Amino acid sequence: MWNFRIYRTVGAKTHMQKYSFPKSDCGPMVLDALILIKNEIDPTLAFRRSCREGICGSCAMNINGKNCLACLTPITNKNTLYPLPHMKVLKDLIPDMNQFYKQYKEIKPWLHTSHTTLTEHIQSPKERKKLDGMYECILCACCSTSCPSYWWNSEEYLGPAVLMQLYRWIEDSRDEATQERMSFANDAMKLYKCKTIMNCTNTCPKGLNPGRAIGKLKKKISQHKA
Ligand code: SF4
Ligand code: F3S
Ligand code: FES
Repeated sequence: MWNFRIYRTVGAKTHMQKYSFPKSDCGPMVLDALILIKNEIDPTLAFRRSCREGICGSCAMNINGKNCLACLTPITNKNTLYPLPHMKVLKDLIPDMNQFYKQYKEIKPWLHTSHTTLTEHIQSPKERKKLDGMYECILCACCSTSCPSYWWNSEEYLGPAVLMQLYRWIEDSRDEATQERMSFANDAMKLYKCKTIMNCTNTCPKGLNPGRAIGKLKKKISQHKA
């Protein structure tokens, strides 16, 4: 049998609910188990999912103490599931992502260019390579919700996911808002609340390194000021 303990909400009250079912009934991943539970055992269980293959980021949750994607995490003998930490919970495994998306919007995450009539914006392979390891981010928020600085300051600190995307646009050779973006980032709360704890990098289910991106962003700003 597979055994699950899952965080549930009923109004303002919370509890851990147990589910068990035969191993043979289920696919290999935690998301397979959640879908089985919802379809066949308990239709009231709430969670997010879409792509089922690590691309949409919507099934991010805390599994056995680590933030990860349910669709990429194999079922094991111990399966304890919570929503992403330190977020307001809407229901069961569904966190309120509004603040995270609001902060993402604040960095204006699109190409700023005066060449509005161009259909192509050319980059050299070297320029393009600078975006590797950053453009692949799926905005699942596993990193930001693993960061103690973000837990305690999420109203003002942008957090690792959003900061890495800010740096991604600063490093983009086609973008003309580099100075404006650096001035925006150069802030005691928005950027410097990162204390290099590196939980973000350790937890990223896509193998990215937002901690290193933040370090590079701080260095770039300090060199610019010098
Ligand atoms: Fe998710 Fe990794 Fe992007 Fe953070 S950096 S939002 S953990 S994909
Ligand atoms: Fe947090 Fe990562 Fe910085 S865990 S403190 S954002 S290095
Ligand atoms: Fe899309 Fe898991 S369902 S990342």
